[in-house]
Amino acid sequence: MKSIPQHVSIIMDGNGRWAKARGKERVYGHIEGVESVRACLEAAVEEGVKYLSVYAFSEENWNRPEAEVMALMELMFQSMKKEFKTFMDNNVRFMVLGNRARLSENLNAAIDAMMAETSVNTGTTLILFLSYSGKWDILQAMKKAAASLSAQEFQQMELQDFDRYLVTAGIPDPDLLIRTSGELRLSNYLLWQSAYTEYYFTDTLWPDFRKPQFREALEEYARRDRRYGKVK
Ligand code: IPE
Ligand code: IPE
Ligand code: MG
Repeated sequence: MKSIPQHVSIIMDGNGRWAKARGKERVYGHIEGVESVRACLEAAVEEGVKYLSVYAFSEENWNRPEAEVMALMELMFQSMKKEFKTFMDNNVRFMVLGNRARLSENLNAAIDAMMAETSVNTGTTLILFLSYSGKWDILQAMKKAAASLSAQEFQQMELQDFDRYLVTAGIPDPDLLIRTSGELRLSNYLLWQSAYTEYYFTDTLWPDFRKPQFREALEEYARRDRRYGKVK
């Protein structure tokens, strides 16, 4: 039997280069990239992947030109509304994780509504990491823990106790992390949570990463030998 990862996470990269290669504005790459999210979600549902998470916007991405940031936020807003029926039809639960305080009131309201309405779904969970960074997550977790524990409890905290303060509380760590576009870095993504994740790098640009490419990554994952430091 093929081993299917419980949680697949993707650093969706290369939209700008995809557009540039076609002589178009960067935003065209982002628009086309939404189609790739849909394709990968479909494949995840078909393959029985319980969690699909995507890095949609990092804390560092706020430093991009204002026009691009605005276009990305608008695209996020529109796509979420457009995909609502797809989520309900496919039993998909939708979540957004990240520094929500930096998002607009409008976008936050739409996210809350989508999360509430899809919370009844029991199939695949799609997580959008928005205004997220791994270091930010660890810091906010530390602050949350410090505020809710006594000094003694804080001192006695074990590794697994820390997980519940991260924004990913209750979500299994990613088994497979895919990064497209040939970049070989984490870019401040799930630092704590990817401690034992299998990495898969591909030169394919995100708008070109569709079902066959997703399945290829799953096949590569099935060939990996996860030892967790032990001898097999
Ligand atoms: C990924 O594509 C999308 C986001 C980071 C929001 P990029 O916009 O980073 O595209 P490249 O890397 O410049 O090609
Ligand atoms: C990482 O891509 C962030 C997302 C995919 C949302 P970037 O394109 O922002 O990362 P760098 O700048 O290459 O590290
Ligand atoms: Mg990039």
